[in-house]
This record gives sequence, structure tokens and C-alpha cells, in this order.
Amino acid sequence: MRVGVLGVGHVGLVTAACMADFGHDVIGYDDDGHKIAALRAGDMPFYEPDLDRLVADNVSTGRLRFSGDAVEALSDREVVFICVGTPSREDGSPNLAYVQAAAQAVAAHARGPVVVAEKSTVPVRTGERIRQALALESQARQGTAHHEVVSNPEFLREGSAVEDTLRPDRIVVGADSTNAHEVMRRVYTPQLERHDCPYVETDVKTAELIKHASNAFLATKISFINAVARVCELTGADVETVADAMGHDPRIGRAFLNAGIGYGGSCFPKDVEAFVHIAAELGYDFGLLRETQRINREAKVWPVHQLRRLLWNLQDKEIAVLGVAFKPGTDDIRDAPALDVIDALEADGASVRLHDPVALDQVRGRFARAELYEDAREALRGAHAVVTCTEWDEYRKIEPEQLAELLAYPVVVDGRNVWDPAALEAANLRVASVGTPFSGDLGA
Ligand code: UDX
Repeated sequence: MRVGVLGVGHVGLVTAACMADFGHDVIGYDDDGHKIAALRAGDMPFYEPDLDRLVADNVSTGRLRFSGDAVEALSDREVVFICVGTPSREDGSPNLAYVQAAAQAVAAHARGPVVVAEKSTVPVRTGERIRQALALESQARQGTAHHEVVSNPEFLREGSAVEDTLRPDRIVVGADSTNAHEVMRRVYTPQLERHDCPYVETDVKTAELIKHASNAFLATKISFINAVARVCELTGADVETVADAMGHDPRIGRAFLNAGIGYGGSCFPKDVEAFVHIAAELGYDFGLLRETQRINREAKVWPVHQLRRLLWNLQDKEIAVLGVAFKPGTDDIRDAPALDVIDALEADGASVRLHDPVALDQVRGRFARAELYEDAREALRGAHAVVTCTEWDEYRKIEPEQLAELLAYPVVVDGRNVWDPAALEAANLRVASVGTPFSGDLGA
């Protein structure tokens, strides 16, 4: 089939490459000429495992092309996936101007009927708006083509986006006509032949809500275990054992029950905020999600409270911060909890010595005083305390004895439970690990 992908950011580029791999003729379009030029030269705009190989393979067979020319990219496509950004406005509502512009571009340039599939995370009822934008633009150009709108949310995670797209847990397609459903079946048949998975056919609004409900639920699961962690700390229980035992119940499951310093990234914070906002606009106060957000805000300042408890004043203290990416396996720092931790430390007058194996370039010049270290051990040497903000594997390899040797004061605040607290204590370190009893305590 002739497939267009409008917007070649993280979701769009992965979608384009995977659709080409399933045998479709795909054009990735973006109005950012630099991005298109880079992709044509074989440069990936971000790191994602396996993506460069998948793009190169499909470009070489001619199934995948990139274009910054809307006429070339959009005139003869049967399906166009809208994969543009939906940044948050200041009030938390998503800014849908790029989605509208994308719909207008399709209607302006398509010569025949197109199925327009929204992949960007959008509020429920955006499908209706897209339909309206398509109709208005077509009419203004005296077009007669009848375009249809489909909601086809993606559930890909950064760092495993290619794997998640090639072998998803489920495919969700929301459409309001038999024809649109048939077209989407043809799009996904090659994929389902390669990897069978549940294929959920529903109406547009339900599909839009599935995406919001899924992300909001996962974020709530994380906040739930972070709240349990606070209770564990107060009682002297161990949150990881609680999570493991809860996880044996298949109705609960162990995934997304890792307590830490909160969720970040480009999806959860923005999606939860948008869902709260959309529900309020529709007349429902989604208090549960507002509480999810509150717990997440608290989780992000937990390390600073622990440091104050263990070091008293943070003024002029040197604090090694390990990890700034919002999770391991990515250099993405969007809404990363570490940013809040570092801002709070600097506000308290501390000097931050920051290490991250891949994300340092993203934070150069962002902080008032933080010094950036390419080597974690150098960041630790002589610091008054260490805080872990991202659970990179390489940090697990630092032995407690070595930590004790490198640090000027024996203080460890383990925000991602990288190390075993008992092993740290055995090395005479004073430890605050999320959801375990604290050592070196002066009282709450
Ligand atoms: C997420 C969803 O998983 C994906 O389905 C959706 O399409 C986009 O948003 P992503 O943001 O890439 O994907 O990362 P994810 O692995 O889900 O982690 C999100 C955040 O939650 C990270 O900051 C991570 O550290 C945190 N997290 C995750 C926890 O704190 N505890 C956990 O148990 C799991």
C-alpha cells in the first residue's frame, strides 16, 4: 500500500521504518528540511536501538523514502499517519496546532481519498476535529475526495521502540466506517502474519481513550508503589519484597512496580496532565490522577529531603548525581526527575557533579553550576554524598567498598535502588534507599 508518515520524530520515524519493513511503499514527510536532509544522508536524529539498520535496509530496497515536499509526499497516499508533536500548553492542555496543520496539509495535497490515521497522543474527540479540518480544507480547494479519520495509538517505549512496533502487545484501530477499518486491516495484515497479536477494532473515540487510560494507569501504578515506599520507610518494611510478592498475583503483575524518584519522559507526565485536563473539560474531576501527579512531584524531591536529613545544610556541599536521563537506555532528558533534583540541590547552594553515560550533551549549559563528568568514579571522588537518579547498569558495578573509598562523607541516597542497602551499610555507608528503613538517621 502507499503509506505516508507525516512528522518523522520518534514515533513517526519508527512507524515509517516498520511500515516499510512490512512491505508497504512509505514516504516520511516533515517540514523540517534539516531533518529530512539528515535522514537522506543516513543520519538518525535520535538514538534508538536497531532503527538505523531498519531505516538503511528499507531505504536501500526503495520501500522507504524521505521528503520535505508536501506535494510529492502526500498527493498519492492511501493512508497517512499523523505523527506530529502535541506539546503541553501552560495550563496543561495539549497544543493541537500541529495536528490541525497536518490534517490541512493532507487535504490540500491529496488527489484521492485518504485514510488519515492519528498516532500522536491526542485528547478524545480530536478525531472529530481532524475530520472537520479535512472537510474545510477540501471544500476550500473545491476538492471532492472523502477523507476518513482513524485513531491508531502507539504504545512504544523509548529504547525498545522498534521491538514494540514490530512485535506489539496489541494493535488498536478506531474507525467510524467499514471502509476505514478495511483499509487499516490491509495495512496491518503483513504485520499480523509476521507476529500475531490482539487486534482491537473500535470506534475513534474509544481508541483515543485507550491510549490515555493505558498511560495514566501505568503512571498510577508507579505512584502507587512510590506511596507504598513512603509507608515502608516509616515502618521499616522493604518495598521491593512487597512489590515482588504483589507481582505474583497475575491480576496485579510485577511490571511498573519499581519504586523510585518518579516517572518522567516525553509521555507519562504530559499524558496524565492532558487526561486530567480533558476530563475536567468534559465535566469530570479525575482526582485519582491528580493524586498520581502529586505523589510523583513528591517522589522527585525525596532525594533532596534525604540529603538534608543526612547532611543537614547543603550549602557548599559537593553532591555527585549519577544519571540524568529519564530512564536507562536513552539520552532523553524530557521531564527527567533528575532535573528537578539538580535544580533543588542548586537552590540549596550545593555544587552538583553530574555523570550520565549518554545524556550529558543534552544538559550542557542548562544548570547554574553543575560540573559534568564523563567518568562516574571521577564524579564520586571527594563528593560529600551521592544520589542515583537513573539506574544505569554501570552504576551497579561500583562496589560499596569503592563508593566508601571515593566519597568524602559516607552518604548514599539511592533514588533508583541501584545498590543493595545491606551491602552499603556493611561498607559503613549511611544509606537512604527508596522504600527501605534508613540508616544514619537523626530522626524524622
Ligand atoms: C511510556 C509507555 O511505556 C509507552 O507505552 C508509551 O507509548 C509512552 O510512554 P516511555 O516514556 O518510553 O514509555 O518509558 P517507560 O519505560 O514506560 O518509563 C516511563 C517512566 O516511568 C520512566 O521515568 C521510568 O523511570 C519510570 N518508571 C517505570 C518507574 O519509575 N518505575 C517503574 O516500575 C517503571
